[in-house]
Amino acid sequence: MKVCVLGLGYIGLPTASVLATSGHTVLGVDIDRRIVELINKKQVHIEEKGLKTLFGAAVNSGNLTASTKPAPSDAFIIAVPTPEKNDRADLSFLRSAAETISAHLRPGNIVIVESTIPPGATEEHVVPVLETSGLKAGRDFHVAHCPERVLPGQILKELIQNDRVIGGLTPDCAARAAELYRSFVQGRIELTDLRTAEMVKLVENSYRDVNIAFANTISNICLAQQVRSARVIELANMHPRVNILRPGPGVGGHCIPVDPWFLIECAPKNAELLKTARRVNNQRPRVVAALAKKMLGRARNAKVAVLGVSFKGDVDDVRLAPAEIVIDELERGGVDVAVYDPHVKQFKKDLMNLEDALRDADLAVILADHSDFKYLHPERLGRLMRSRRVLDPFGSVDRALWEAAGFEVRTL
Ligand SMILES: NC(=O)c1ccc[n+]([C@@H]2O[C@H](COP(=O)([O-])OP(=O)(O)OC[C@H]3O[C@@H](n4cnc5c(N)ncnc54)[C@H](O)[C@@H]3O)[C@@H](O)[C@H]2O)c1
Repeated sequence: MKVCVLGLGYIGLPTASVLATSGHTVLGVDIDRRIVELINKKQVHIEEKGLKTLFGAAVNSGNLTASTKPAPSDAFIIAVPTPEKNDRADLSFLRSAAETISAHLRPGNIVIVESTIPPGATEEHVVPVLETSGLKAGRDFHVAHCPERVLPGQILKELIQNDRVIGGLTPDCAARAAELYRSFVQGRIELTDLRTAEMVKLVENSYRDVNIAFANTISNICLAQQVRSARVIELANMHPRVNILRPGPGVGGHCIPVDPWFLIECAPKNAELLKTARRVNNQRPRVVAALAKKMLGRARNAKVAVLGVSFKGDVDDVRLAPAEIVIDELERGGVDVAVYDPHVKQFKKDLMNLEDALRDADLAVILADHSDFKYLHPERLGRLMRSRRVLDPFGSVDRALWEAAGFEVRTL
């Protein structure tokens, strides 16, 4: 098939690459000229495990090219951002992507929305824009929603292996979309209606948010009670029907802190639990900053080395990362903050190498769960620091080893 993928970010570029290596002719479209130029020079602009190789195979096969504008195709996949603005979904990117498609729409085409959207958004915001083409959705062309549920860091594996939910404007629309996904998905493909598919994605991420908020609430209580939450949770999880997640410094990224708002906006009176979870998780970076300040005590001209600023371990994505709020809070309190992250290339503060970040620091705070941090050598790093203290929300370091090297180690 000729497929046009709109939005070449963390979702669109891997999807375009998988489609191209599955034999489709793919035109990747992005409004960001820099991204389009890079792709046409056979370079990727994001870090994702395995992407360079797959993308290389896709462009070298001649099946993947990029442009700032769509062209006539059999299928159009929309993977543009749907951020939250004032606790509601901002669908402006989605509407403008639909607008650019409508000029190229032909009878028999299919348009698939992969972006995460509130219930009803495909019918209310995408279909009317596409119908400005003069064609009728469900009769002349097909419309479906296939929410993306991949895990950053595992995107390529999950694009192929995950089960997919496809909601169609009509059953025929869902069946036609499924034909395209069957060309590369090995997981199950479940067909349903549009609104159900839209809800499924939001429910999944709200479930994660609420469960993380529960773990964070336990951690807040344990901090006040001076009990180690990691041990409490470990022991509680020995119960056969209890499975509490690990507390952390907050929830970041494009999905989990955003998607619950799309459910809340459509049913505010029924979504108190979701609102509370958002509040609890949003508060966590401030809990971490307060604990860091407590550990610094009366240190004069205090310096903190922040290790890891991405929203999740082993990825380069810093969108809505809790680290940003922790750093702001510390700096507002007069603390000098130095930042090291082995994955992130761009951040609002200068990134340093590990040694420079730790040199003369009074405290190291680990804010991303990168695997590299498990192998940090406490004795060598301790020699660089002014005081041997580490705040380790994820339990990344070997506590016994670091304590033996003279470190004060705190978790959440
Ligand atoms: N990143 C994830 O892990 C993930 C997981 C599941 C779902 N999603 C959802 O997928 C969607 C895309 O997320 P992402 O992380 O890939 O975003 P992203 O910001 O990485 O990429 C989106 C791209 O779309 C481009 N764009 C914006 N408007 C456009 C338009 N009108 N036409 C063409 N391109 C346009 C942007 O320039 C950007 O490069 C969002 O709705 C997100 O919630 C993301």
